[in-house]
Amino acid sequence: DSIEKGGYPHFMLKEIFEQPRSILDSMRGRLELGASHLNMGGIRAYEQKFINAQRIIIVACGTSWHAGLVAEYLIEDLARIPVEVEYASEFRYRNPIITERDIVIAISQSGETADTLAAIELAKSKGATIFGVCNVVGSSIARATDAGAYTHAGPEIGVASTKAFTAQVTVLTLLAMIMGQKRGTITDTKLRELMVELDTIPAKVTKALELDAQIQEIAEEFKDATNFLYLGRGYNFPVALEGALKLKEISYIHAEGYPAAEMKHGPIALIDENMPMVVIATRDSSYEKVVSNIQEVKARKGRIIAVVSEGDKVIPAMAEYVIEVPHTSEVLMPLVSVIPLQLLSYHIAVLRGCNVDQPRNLAKSVTVE
Ligand code: G6P
Repeated sequence: DSIEKGGYPHFMLKEIFEQPRSILDSMRGRLELGASHLNMGGIRAYEQKFINAQRIIIVACGTSWHAGLVAEYLIEDLARIPVEVEYASEFRYRNPIITERDIVIAISQSGETADTLAAIELAKSKGATIFGVCNVVGSSIARATDAGAYTHAGPEIGVASTKAFTAQVTVLTLLAMIMGQKRGTITDTKLRELMVELDTIPAKVTKALELDAQIQEIAEEFKDATNFLYLGRGYNFPVALEGALKLKEISYIHAEGYPAAEMKHGPIALIDENMPMVVIATRDSSYEKVVSNIQEVKARKGRIIAVVSEGDKVIPAMAEYVIEVPHTSEVLMPLVSVIPLQLLSYHIAVLRGCNVDQPRNLAKSVTVE
């Protein structure tokens, strides 16, 4: 058992620390800086369909759905195709409008999630082209799709998904970049810049993992909290949702992720001196706005744990705890900003004596509808 865990106390921690490698594996053969373009074998036969798609519908569940939300930002931003992100279980029961010019992207680590599989079958019957992003080779979803790209993250044993998420986001980033290039919605210079930056992500994730000891101390401080709020905007909004999901899955602490500005329409009522708030406030186009959201929280005495870009001079004066992650391009930030949130939920769960790898009531793949 301990050999399988590679010396780590849990699979989840091993998988969190594998991410520099698994992200690299998910880019292998697809991103080559020597070449001026990206490769993704899976889309070759459907290139025209992708170029002419009138809409992309993403279907997934759980953490994979969060990767889908990141992809919505990426594809709309870089490839200018409208995207809808759907919970597979809702999509299939609401008589959705699907046409032959739609592309459905199904995201699934296991490739066995029953609701996602059923959503694929429905979309197929309406003539949409189905593209899969799966981790398990030869899985049911991989077989049911017209084309796809494997994430190559390696086996994920911990029930709470970590390395599969970052591999999904990496593959979806590459896909959005390729579509942007083919549709002419991003310039060659911008593409090149993103390629160079994407190439640095494994090293930046390694640096973010070095925050482990600091995050363990923060976990000590907050392990007895009964509620947590996670806030982020833009590309960091799906990361806030994922951070909250990780915490509730393995520590059984109630946690909610929210778009930082939407907080004013509800969660702000919950803030008092006992409410920990994890705010993802990296230096991007919504930075100033997030800073004012932090001020609103501070004025109500909420306890702020902020994830910021290295060298931030403003937020340390406002937040109780500051976690500095390496800075990267806004569109790639989720790959870095999610790392401290994975570690925080892990350490809190361990300190609370929870079964981190096999949380109660949860299954690694949900094969019932
Ligand atoms: C279960 C797992 C989650 C996972 C979700 C979707 O709830 O516990 O970790 O995100 O299913 O699974 P999939 O294999 O389709 O990505």
